[in-house]
Amino acid sequence: MTTSEAREETPTRAEAIAQVAKFLVAGGVEEAQAHDDARALLRAAADLSRLELAMRPQAPLAEEHADALSHYAARRAAREPVSRILGERGFWTLDLLVAPDVLDPRPDTETLIETTLDLIGEKRNEPLSILDLGTGSGAIVCALLSELPRARAVAVDLSPQACAAAANNLARCGFSNRASVMRGRWAEALSARFDIIVSNPPYVRAGEIPQLDPEVRLHDPALALDGGVDGLDCYREIIDDLPRLVADDGLVAFEVGSDQAVSVASLLGAQGFGVERVGRDLGGHERVVAARRARSRS
Ligand SMILES: C[S@@+](CC[C@H](N)C(=O)[O-])C[C@H]1O[C@@H](n2cnc3c(N)ncnc32)[C@H](O)[C@@H]1O
Repeated sequence: MTTSEAREETPTRAEAIAQVAKFLVAGGVEEAQAHDDARALLRAAADLSRLELAMRPQAPLAEEHADALSHYAARRAAREPVSRILGERGFWTLDLLVAPDVLDPRPDTETLIETTLDLIGEKRNEPLSILDLGTGSGAIVCALLSELPRARAVAVDLSPQACAAAANNLARCGFSNRASVMRGRWAEALSARFDIIVSNPPYVRAGEIPQLDPEVRLHDPALALDGGVDGLDCYREIIDDLPRLVADDGLVAFEVGSDQAVSVASLLGAQGFGVERVGRDLGGHERVVAARRARSRS
C-alpha cells in the first residue's frame, strides 16, 4: 500500500470534513451549508466537542468513526436535515429532541419567543398562564417556560406524534410539572382563559408545498405545513375562537409567513384585537404579529 492509499483509508478529521462537504454538494446541499453540516456530522460521528476538533483537525479519524460518518453523510446527501439525523436541535437556550413526523423547530421561531418575552416585560415573574396552539416539538412552550419561572402552560396539537414529542421535551427540560399536553383541534376542548396565547400554525400555501426544499417537503409532516389555499386557514380558525380564550389584558402572538403579517393583523382586528408589535427576523422580514384586545373608547 502506498502512503497516499494509506492516507485515503485513514483521513484526518479536516480531510474527512472536506470529503463529506464535497459529497453533500454533489447531493444538492448548498455549498455554504455543506461545510457546516459535514463538520457537525463528523463531530457527532466521532463524539468530539467543538474545542477538540478545533485543537486537533489533523488527527486521524478512527475507522469506526469514519463508518458512522459515511452513514450520516449518505442520509444528509439524500437531503435529510442534520437535526433529524442527529435527533437533536438547539432552540433558544435549550437542546431539544427532534422526532420523526414532528416539525423540526426553526431558528426563525426564536423571533416569536423574543417578541413575546419583550411584551411580557415586567410581568415575567408573575404566575402567567400560557396556551401554545400547535405545539409540535414543544419548542415554543419549553422556551417560554424556561424564561417565565412561575408560568404554567397548556400545549395542544392534533398530531399524536407531536404530543408525544412535546411531552418528552418538556420532561427533558424539567418542565413537566408546569405544563400539560393535550391532543385536540386547536382550543376546541378548552374553556379557560389564558394570559398568553402563542402559535406557529401551518402557514404554507398548499400550492407552494411541492416547491419547498426536500429537507422540508420530505421530512416535515404535511399537517405542520399546509395552511390551505392562501396559507391563512389556521389563522382564521384560531383567531375566530380567540375572544373567549384571552384573559383581560392577555397577549396573543403568532409566527407568520414573511408576507402574511398584514393579513393576520386584519384577521385579529376583525375579532377586536389591536396589533401591539410586528416582530422581524434577522433578515428584516415580518415574522411575528402580537396583539392585545383593543380597548373600547368610552
Ligand atoms: C408549523 S408547526 C409548529 C410546531 C411548533 N410549534 C414549532 O414552532 O416548532 C404547526 C403545528 O400545528 C399542528 N396542527 C395542525 N393543525 C392543527 C389543528 N387543527 N389543531 C392542533 N394542532 C394542529 C401540527 O401538527 C404542527 O405540530
